[in-house]
Amino acid sequence: MPPRILMCPPDHYGIEYEINPWMNRSLGAVRAVAFTQWTKLRDTLVSLGVTVDALAPQPGLPDLVFTANAGLMFHHTFLSSRFKHEVRAKESPVFDEWFAAHGFTVDHLPERMYHEGAGDALFCGDTLFAGYRTRSDANAHNWVAERLGVRCLPLELVNPRFYHLDTCFCPLAPGEAIYFPDAFDGYGRRVLETHVPKLIPVVEDEAHRFGCNAVVVEKTVVHNSRCPQLGVSLRAAGYKSIEVELDEFLKAGGSAKCLTLRLDGEEAAGWKR
Ligand code: ARG
Repeated sequence: MPPRILMCPPDHYGIEYEINPWMNRSLGAVRAVAFTQWTKLRDTLVSLGVTVDALAPQPGLPDLVFTANAGLMFHHTFLSSRFKHEVRAKESPVFDEWFAAHGFTVDHLPERMYHEGAGDALFCGDTLFAGYRTRSDANAHNWVAERLGVRCLPLELVNPRFYHLDTCFCPLAPGEAIYFPDAFDGYGRRVLETHVPKLIPVVEDEAHRFGCNAVVVEKTVVHNSRCPQLGVSLRAAGYKSIEVELDEFLKAGGSAKCLTLRLDGEEAAGWKR
């Protein structure tokens, strides 16, 4: 079965509020440019053999494009997010409806337990690596781990610019990941070093271009443009790197990975559909 990814076209994308340090309403986003960049990302994924499912864009939900935050996938279950901010919580009914209509089991966390889906919870092998503090709660991660019956390693995100785990950590395969060390404290770095034998650091400049926010399709990694050192590291590790400029989305605090949700299990996930 081909890899399957959910994306949402940026028809209603924009910077309409500020909920992370990247967002600045007065700078705004140029929708036509966003459209070109988003289309290039989608076409690149399709050229890699991915089936892209499209969620219908909705007026008034400018961040709906960031489907990674819809929820967490586990086999046929879609565990719907509980967004920290009300402006994004309004996306949940749209996501829930799509998943129910497409035959997935839709599950929910208890109220007021914040969890922002695949933005903050990523499988590397059988272990769920979980970012907490800014958006998701540590106790929500524990609840999810128990619900799914998996081991979870919570990592505190200490740098406000790297407010979701997928902005600073990207599993490539079981036991292998790229990461930005300064997004974690000493304890978090030790947890990563102990549990991920092959950890590839991303340099500061490229981490600020959201190089870690990458989409992995087999041995190809798709990430934002102007991350040359990341390309070199990936090639040395046996991966092909493809750059797609996504700067219009960086203005909202997102990039390649945030714009996608893998429906059939990521390359690194110990479970597969
Ligand atoms: N503006 C969005 C927010 O602040 C960006 C989400 C990016 N998504 C991600 N998975 N990192 O929520």
